Amino acid sequence: MGLADKSPSALAPKPVAASATTLATLMEPADANPMGNVHGGVIMKLVDQAAAAAAIRHSGRICVTVAVDRLDFFGPVHVGDMVTLKAAVNYTHRTSMEVGVEIHAETLREGRVRRAGTALLIFVALDDQCQPTVVPPILAETEEEQLRYRQAELRYRHRKELREKERALRNTRAH
Ligand SMILES: CC(C)(COP(=O)(O)OP(=O)(O)OC[C@H]1O[C@@H](n2cnc3c(N)ncnc32)[C@H](O)[C@@H]1OP(=O)(O)O)[C@@H](O)C(=O)NCCC(=O)NCCS
Repeated sequence: MGLADKSPSALAPKPVAASATTLATLMEPADANPMGNVHGGVIMKLVDQAAAAAAIRHSGRICVTVAVDRLDFFGPVHVGDMVTLKAAVNYTHRTSMEVGVEIHAETLREGRVRRAGTALLIFVALDDQCQPTVVPPILAETEEEQLRYRQAELRYRHRKELREKERALRNTRAH
């Protein structure tokens, strides 16, 4: 049976909570940029790792990052801070999943926790031949999860439309 014959609705839905992933890491001097704060790229790698774990938990498959939709930093993270990332699947379509990540930084001595950023990433689940494969539908249970689902659904449509328009423009130029 090819991918075209498979439908996500044939798979049992899984709750958002089943994909919930927490990743905590202590920021060290090697993570610093020339200003002495933590390099954005270090946090980006952790964001990708936490989000990938959430996507794999949901799909039960190997998953690849296909896009970072957005990544916002609200303030600097310092060496010595404990960075905690909380990731969960917001939305599933056929083979892709949008994962949301909340980034918090804690100044350990004072126990002061602040929101350091948020991110949205898209992952695609792969089968044993490394081809995109269907994922279980996500079950948004709480009001907050349902809101995130609806917002993510809008973004899915918007991204798809944008890719199609960009492709059409490229094809027009090619002729
Ligand atoms: C992921 C990958 C296999 C998808 O291949 P593809 O030919 O685009 O496959 P499809 O067109 O069937 O798209 C598969 C899914 O990806 C989504 N997708 C593809 N390109 C996308 C993009 N740029 N942004 C968001 N979603 C995208 C599609 O919407 C589709 O989702 P759906 O099935 O839920 O509707 C391919 O793009 C790839 O291998 N990318 C590299 C991934 C990788 O190696 N990441 C790590 C980099 S180090």
